[in-house]
Amino acid sequence: MKVINIVGARPNFMKIAPVMEAYRAHPSIVPLLLHTGQHYDEAMSKLFFDELEIPRPDINLEVGSASHAAQTAAIMQAFEPVVMEHKPDAVLVVGDVNSTIACGLVAVKLGAKLIHVEAGLRSFDRTMPEEVNRVLTDAISDFLFCTEQSGVDNLAKEGVDAGKVHLVGNVMIDTLMRHRAKADESPMLKRLKLKPREFAVLTLHRPANVDDPAIFSGILDALEEVQKQMPVIFPIHPRSRKGLVSSGLDKRVAAMKNLQVLYPLGYLDFLKLMSEAKLVLTDSGGIQEETTILKVPCVTLRENTERPITVECGANTVVGRDPKAILSACSAILKGSARDIRTPPLWDGHAAERIVEIIARAFA
Ligand code: UD1
Repeated sequence: MKVINIVGARPNFMKIAPVMEAYRAHPSIVPLLLHTGQHYDEAMSKLFFDELEIPRPDINLEVGSASHAAQTAAIMQAFEPVVMEHKPDAVLVVGDVNSTIACGLVAVKLGAKLIHVEAGLRSFDRTMPEEVNRVLTDAISDFLFCTEQSGVDNLAKEGVDAGKVHLVGNVMIDTLMRHRAKADESPMLKRLKLKPREFAVLTLHRPANVDDPAIFSGILDALEEVQKQMPVIFPIHPRSRKGLVSSGLDKRVAAMKNLQVLYPLGYLDFLKLMSEAKLVLTDSGGIQEETTILKVPCVTLRENTERPITVECGANTVVGRDPKAILSACSAILKGSARDIRTPPLWDGHAAERIVEIIARAFA
């Protein structure tokens, strides 16, 4: 059985790493790895392959950045001849990025089975490009692997045959557990002169937060106050850096003495920072999950989350973008006692093994 596994953007790399490893226990499966090239910078791509020991991609489409339609179309056009040449039995996609839907669509039209890892998550906000990618990918998938029960329930409501849906846990957490000890050796705290639990970590990259200067500026209002209470470390996504520079908000950020902007970090350094932080502020999906396992309170700067289990387990507070709400959530964490944060079912480091086992059995 031949499976082409797709990665494209940064959050895909930590999801595919344990899946590629799990194939090793199943010699009947021949896995190929394809990188679409949606992310291409050293810090956004290559570093993760090295640190997470992901095999070098067998195929690289090198599509790069473009508008949604142009990028999705470029991936589809480049992927179609690959599927025609290799004739895979299945194509495995992860997450919700443009590479996910682009490759999924090509695969099913050429008769390959489509496997979606991280299926069923819904923010119910169709203005998010990822939500559109999720809904469409799930609608055409043959195997839908869910990280949490809400995913299974959402798919049932959308009429997806229950026989295709499997609750298996979270491959991103497999990677976190595998690399926790190594990350612990990262010199990040020393290098930045930080003390455990005496700093906050911030990430921002959603178009809804960083492409609109009025919204970005409101978030900075809150950060201005938070950084007076403790240092805030901000490894910045290229999209957000662009947003800051083009709006002139970079000068405001530079004036905040206790807000430290860094280039995008590698996986191990970032994991170290998150695990030792007092709190994490983010608009990322994956970081809501990682903080849940690390038992670090997370303040989500979005109006909704497609990962409600992170709220139910006590790690995540979804506050939106109102500066007052952001500030009051942060103050509550800074002043409050330690939270009781629970671990979601099946987030045990073995999700990828379950996935590959199910695939192997289905194609035996
Ligand atoms: C993409 C995903 C998003 C994911 C995020 C993680 C989609 C629709 N969005 O958003 O779900 O959470 O990745 O990072 O697929 N850029 C670089 N270097 C790179 C890659 C991008 O400088 O290696 C810059 C380019 O200017 C590009 C911009 O970042 O235009 C945005 O990149 P893009 O891949 O379009 O979307 P992300 O915002 O990264």
